[in-house]
Amino acid sequence: MSEIDLSPLKPAIQSFVPLGRSGLLPALHAAQKIYGWLPQEVAAEVARVLRVPLADVHGVIEFYSLFYNGPVGRKFIRVCTDPACALKGADELLDHLCKHYGVEPGGTTPDLTLTLERSPCLGLCEHAPAALVDNCAETNISPDYRSFDTCTPRSLVYGTIRELTGNCGNGTTTLEKYGEYTAYQKALTMTPDDVIAETDKASGLVGRGGAAFPTGIKWGSAAKIEADQKYIVCNADESEPGTFKDRILLLDDPHRIIEGMCIAAYAINSNKGYIYIRGEYPYIVPVLENALDEARAAGYLGEHFDIEIRVGAGAYICGEETALFESIEGKRGFPRVKPPFPTTSGLFGKPTVINNVETLCNLPLIISKGSAEYRKLGTEMSPGPKLFCVSGDVEKPGLYEVPFGVTLRELLEMAGGPSTALRTDGKKLKAVLFGGAAGAFATSEHLDVKLTFEDLRAVGLPLGSGVVMVFDETRDLRDVLKRLGKFFAHESCGKCYPCQMGTQRQMEILDRLAEGRLIEGDAARLQDVGWTMTESSLCGLGQTAASAALSAMKLWPEIFVEGQRSKVTER
Ligand SMILES: Cc1cc2nc3c(=O)[nH]c(=O)nc-3n(C[C@H](O)[C@H](O)[C@H](O)COP(=O)(O)O)c2cc1C
Ligand code: SF4
Repeated sequence: MSEIDLSPLKPAIQSFVPLGRSGLLPALHAAQKIYGWLPQEVAAEVARVLRVPLADVHGVIEFYSLFYNGPVGRKFIRVCTDPACALKGADELLDHLCKHYGVEPGGTTPDLTLTLERSPCLGLCEHAPAALVDNCAETNISPDYRSFDTCTPRSLVYGTIRELTGNCGNGTTTLEKYGEYTAYQKALTMTPDDVIAETDKASGLVGRGGAAFPTGIKWGSAAKIEADQKYIVCNADESEPGTFKDRILLLDDPHRIIEGMCIAAYAINSNKGYIYIRGEYPYIVPVLENALDEARAAGYLGEHFDIEIRVGAGAYICGEETALFESIEGKRGFPRVKPPFPTTSGLFGKPTVINNVETLCNLPLIISKGSAEYRKLGTEMSPGPKLFCVSGDVEKPGLYEVPFGVTLRELLEMAGGPSTALRTDGKKLKAVLFGGAAGAFATSEHLDVKLTFEDLRAVGLPLGSGVVMVFDETRDLRDVLKRLGKFFAHESCGKCYPCQMGTQRQMEILDRLAEGRLIEGDAARLQDVGWTMTESSLCGLGQTAASAALSAMKLWPEIFVEGQRSKVTER
């Protein structure tokens, strides 16, 4: 084996040395950019320069699926095979590419020209089937595809209002187009307590990241604590299968997010923020860097408050807030035991407010309009605008902005779902997966349910991160369940036993279900595993990993009987 030239490495990672352990992920990204993968000698040099134990460096490399400890191709194709892409021919696309390049999924050509991988959701569901080719998002790829020639996905934005998405759909909004941070300037004329009050009960803003936690309460508790350092973190990890709303906001309207973070920082008295963006969105990073530079040049960021970007490396669990902190701190993304909650002890052990991208985008709106005006949209318990990520069997997949309270039927009519006027093929609705992989299925019985936190909760459906994945009557949901099972088994961090074992057992049973070879007792086993994970897992991943399967068992018990034939073509 030829010796590795380490001379370009030191200058590339030197700037991360002052960050200490927290510089590990950025340093590994920089190293991988030079060598294409992370050979032992490179890992050892990173460990030496950053003064991190080598075993920890290896642990981090192993944990994140976008770090490679073996040679990979100079070109890297990641084909999404999660449900939304699978509906649109992702398996056929992958087959075609395997044949074309002569490799199996996960394989590399002998001459190291190319590596081809099956990938979890890439956040491109409205453009299915999609792939990430090196740093480019390739969208709506036909099965006989020849070359990839796009890079940044188009933003398809629809709905009845444009409160949050007014700047979306026309390319990136520069500071010149965005204008002054007028909401932030208005916030500065208010006391921090008043800003929090406006965000809290007055506006009733509820977090959009999935946990539906009231934003003002979070801010209030972080503000109360005396500390030498507090942090604002923007959670842009967006890895829930079916979710792509944050991608569009980040790409098209980065200043709205930065303004939201500035308002949050002022409210809780923080001088440092992080945007943690998933590694599968590399094409967004330069957009954010440019927006941060513009905001600094205009004086909105700088001494009083500044923001650093951190890029993840392929781990769904790092969307969980405490796992995300661990990742910024340069560790594997293991969730922490709570309490303490982030507002008391978060990033680097300091009081931290972490908010989702969409949540932050509501802040300029609330502060500039005032909460009374903001509340004119939506319902008492779910005020304001909401973004829904509509994908699957609809004529117009895309991002829909509507007031909270429209019904599922109204949303599907806009999107051209099954049995609606826009849909000409006459196919009927089979199911809607709400909330993503961690969500639950709805049927045509739920068409008149209002899309609010409270109405969905009342019928046992999670709003989650706004996923509305639509399946028509021709779809076999066993295939969908099988893919969700694989997803969770792959993404479980393994820290706690119920989820580590449960996601594996669940995947095995869902595989048998899809293959039509359920054995006696599988239905009971699936329920048992599901309830155990839900009740006893450490974090939200394990607690929701069985949610879709359990909801399917309730709605279609007949498919969980052994001896059922399956139409699913196995892979
Ligand atoms: C497995 C898992 C993945 C998550 N992924 C995300 C994510 O990608 N983006 C996000 O904003 N929240 C995600 N969350 C929720 C966060 O833990 C946290 O509640 C959220 O960022 C808080 O922001 P909000 O109050 O503005 O909703 C995830 C939670 C779990 C359990
Ligand atoms: S529930 Fe799953 S993802 Fe969460 S800590 Fe346990 S093993 Fe890790």
